[in-house]
Amino acid sequence: MKEVFEKIWELALPYQDKRDDKGHAEITTSYALKLLESERGNENVVVPAIILHDIGWSQLTKDERMTIFDHSATKDEKLRVRYRHQDEGVRLGKDILNQVNYTQNLIEEILDIISQHDTREGFISQDEGLARDADKLWRFSKTGFIADLIRNKFSFQQLYDKLTNKIELPNFFYSNKAKQIAYDELEIRKKDCNGAQK
Ligand SMILES: [Fe+2]
Ligand SMILES: [Fe+2]
Repeated sequence: MKEVFEKIWELALPYQDKRDDKGHAEITTSYALKLLESERGNENVVVPAIILHDIGWSQLTKDERMTIFDHSATKDEKLRVRYRHQDEGVRLGKDILNQVNYTQNLIEEILDIISQHDTREGFISQDEGLARDADKLWRFSKTGFIADLIRNKFSFQQLYDKLTNKIELPNFFYSNKAKQIAYDELEIRKKDCNGAQK
């Protein structure tokens, strides 16, 4: 990664992966870099946006952070914490980007992506689409898949089917490349599972 991205990464590190989702920041960042290899997008927007997108969770209490996974929580309660992690992410992200003297108009674009990365319907730009694709691909990664299996007590097949059905949903993925990565990842999950059963 470019030096400035490394600096942003270091400054964000204390705030990462605060939702029992160890590896989320690293894995989603590596998907963003992978998407940028073939998709046209501005790495100066996409990479900082994905590094910083979830740091806001660190500002919520543990109970608040886990509301999202609590089956007894209402839709409104879940939405409220989603908005809060986005708002806190914008606040902290702005601070970090200013600390590395990032370009002002890029900061605005990055913060706009973070501000609604979990709640926005549809996509506002190529860069926003790619950042959100990278975030969603987490669930298809080995680490994200296992975390989901354990947390929701899904069987392998239940989760496999659930994720397969998401891939082609309108406005789920922005890029075809992300869809392809998602299918490829699910194939590997299946092979891993079959291998584990032998
Ligand atoms: Fe998020
Ligand atoms: Fe995320």
